[in-house]
Amino acid sequence: MHFPEDFVEEVRSRNDIVSVISSVVALKKKGGRYFGVCPFHNEKTPSFSVSGENQLYYCFGCGAGGNVVTFVMQYENFSFQEAITYLAERAGMEVPEDTASAAAKKEEDKRKQLLAVYRDAAAFYYYQLRSPVGKAALSYFERRGLTEETIKKFGLGYAPRSGSPLYAYLKKKGYSDELLDQSKLLKIDSRGAWDRFFNRAMFPIMDIHKRVIAFGGRVMGEGEPKYLNSPESDIFDKSRNLYALYLAKSSRRPYFLLCEGYMDVISLHQAGFDCAVASLGTSFTSGHASLLKRYNKDVIITYDSDAAGVRAALRAIPILKEAGIPVKVLDMSPHKDPDEFINALGAEEYQKRIDNAVNAFFFECDVAWKAVDKRDPEQVSGFQKDLAAKIASFEDALTRDNYIDACSRRYFVKKQALAERVNFIGGRKMPEQDLLSEERRLSANRKKQQKDKKSESYLITWLSRTKLPFETIDRYLKPEYFENELYSRVAADILRGKDEHDPVSLSRLIDTYSAENEEYGKQLSRLFMAEIDEDDKIAAENLRMIKRDYLNSLLNNNPGPQELQRLIKERAELDKEEICLRP
Ligand code: GTP
Ligand code: MN
Repeated sequence: MHFPEDFVEEVRSRNDIVSVISSVVALKKKGGRYFGVCPFHNEKTPSFSVSGENQLYYCFGCGAGGNVVTFVMQYENFSFQEAITYLAERAGMEVPEDTASAAAKKEEDKRKQLLAVYRDAAAFYYYQLRSPVGKAALSYFERRGLTEETIKKFGLGYAPRSGSPLYAYLKKKGYSDELLDQSKLLKIDSRGAWDRFFNRAMFPIMDIHKRVIAFGGRVMGEGEPKYLNSPESDIFDKSRNLYALYLAKSSRRPYFLLCEGYMDVISLHQAGFDCAVASLGTSFTSGHASLLKRYNKDVIITYDSDAAGVRAALRAIPILKEAGIPVKVLDMSPHKDPDEFINALGAEEYQKRIDNAVNAFFFECDVAWKAVDKRDPEQVSGFQKDLAAKIASFEDALTRDNYIDACSRRYFVKKQALAERVNFIGGRKMPEQDLLSEERRLSANRKKQQKDKKSESYLITWLSRTKLPFETIDRYLKPEYFENELYSRVAADILRGKDEHDPVSLSRLIDTYSAENEEYGKQLSRLFMAEIDEDDKIAAENLRMIKRDYLNSLLNNNPGPQELQRLIKERAELDKEEICLRP
């Protein structure tokens, strides 16, 4: 760990987990816990729980869990170090000098240094754009209608044509060849160093904290590839970042405009649509969806109006819906993309298109309807059957009725016939598809968890909560009784640290074990957050069970004759023994 243990402890105790999490997830109190919709996977019914008493969170759906520090790491995409710094500042604390171990520091430093390299590279490209060599690029941007203010706001730049000037610049800043090679902004080998981006208009890509993590470079004019994007790296995960989200997240508009290209986003922002984002030269993923879901807004897809754009929209819609985000699709015809639309017709016309955007259901049906040859009854009734099936998938009867009404007019079907077909399908249908898959996911998860022995997990949970004095428990329960190695170690920790038992110590255990293995942190959060019947008698029986298993395992392990006798005697006594956990 990079900061002194005391400091980390202090940071944790000054940041109440309920208040930290409720600033980003809507929580409802239920019993002693808070529940909300999990920010780490896509779900509709809340299975994400937070305990103020233990200062822990756990999602019964996806198994994400931990303490306030791991939450911030996961949610903000921070390292441990960054999360502690963030929470310390949140609590108004001074952050001390970092006292990292050499190895841990190296890992952290590498991230930091990569971010520094990208920041410096962005500054380099930015200044090149304004130098004599950047003249053509600057006029390229101007020709595309960008104002000086916009160019500045998006930090646009230029990667020069000749030699390897970025390399020279970064070397002067003191970076090592090894780091520069890792940054992938340059290619370095025995023969020399080459800049990756060469005579291109440069678009820095920033993460949600406005840190430069990658670049997109466009040829000016014709050429292949049109855009060159930096590869993924320790600081750049394509499927967890959206272009301009750091700006769009604070827009006052109640929706995001989801585009395909950098230029679309920039044009839209310049025209006053400050809620535009784009996925980064890759298709839209569920990672993007859960990123957007945090802001509780609708999404209006404004992809290119060509066939590829329509296909991409059809792929993005179910991903957004699965995340529970209301989706609409904007029609840009006769123009190809938002950039061209704005340049041709202006912001006011675009706003009208936003107001007229159709919901994703109609968009999907419209696409299918357009492909139907209306003179062919076979095709028409095929479409109508699909339409009915789609309507039947709505859970709510009123919604189904409304869609039957609207669709009968939109696609010229007799209302009565459509309604009959919907009901026919509905009558045969098994439970709602979505619910089914959610349920299946949950139960698969539960099964996975049941692989550890129930009595062992019960005892860890019980041990983490019981107010009984440890001298008595100690007499009956030894860490080695646990077959699960992690549980055995944790039991030892809890029994040892019981004098200073306080809620935060569970949190500290999570830090310690997460640092060793992320999976351990999750497992412990699950145990510490589990609902159990807290009862001395049940605890005693579970205790008896794991001890018997323990003795049996020793018996199966070829003990010597004396040992054998002792074990058999002990096992016989165990069955008769009255386990009294109260002093
Ligand atoms: P302009 O022609 O500059 O207006 O581009 P655009 O924003 O209209 O881009 P386009 O619709 O052609 O592509 C959308 C996005 O896909 C771009 O912003 C890039 O992120 C990505 N992209 C486009 N062409 C390429 C390519 O050749 N290679 C890669 N890797 N990505 C590309
Ligand atoms: Mn374009």
